[in-house]
Amino acid sequence: MKICVYPGSFDPVTNGHIDVIQRAARMFDKVIVAVVANPNKQPAFTLEDRAAFLKRVLSDMDNVEVDSFSGLLIDYMHVKKASVIIRGLRAVSDFEHEFQMALMNKKLDDNIETIFMMTNGQYSYLSSSMVKEVAGLGGCIKGLVPDEILTEVVRALRKKGE
Ligand code: PNS
Repeated sequence: MKICVYPGSFDPVTNGHIDVIQRAARMFDKVIVAVVANPNKQPAFTLEDRAAFLKRVLSDMDNVEVDSFSGLLIDYMHVKKASVIIRGLRAVSDFEHEFQMALMNKKLDDNIETIFMMTNGQYSYLSSSMVKEVAGLGGCIKGLVPDEILTEVVRALRKKGE
């Protein structure tokens, strides 16, 4: 069984992430969407909320599982017996950091591959940070995050922006 892991902060999940997950689910037997507890970042949503949003949105996808972890991604890959890391690429600006992470992961385990998926052009400008900024300042984020979580995300971010 070919298992891939799509790791990220998902703070919050955007329609760009969902697009990558749907495409990965067509290529792999199982996609594990792994919400990462990153001690270097101050997320707007708790790990539990981020995972709950993903679970709600992805509940009808049979070969997609939502999980979370802390620590090294490579260790998590071993626990899950996964061989491929999926990452989305939007613009050239993403490239340097993604390149660094992919090579570091390859150094840690040469048998694990990182596969990059080009973002759908429609979402090339979209990021969780942008969503947080726009919603926090009262702007409309409809169409940027899944409809199932829109109200909750807007409410939480507006409160933070006040
Ligand atoms: O959505 P993000 O914040 O761009 O995701 C970054 C993430 C979570 C994939 C990356 O920070 C990560 O893999 N963290 C786990 C810790 C780790 O393994 N670090 C060393 C390899 S880069």
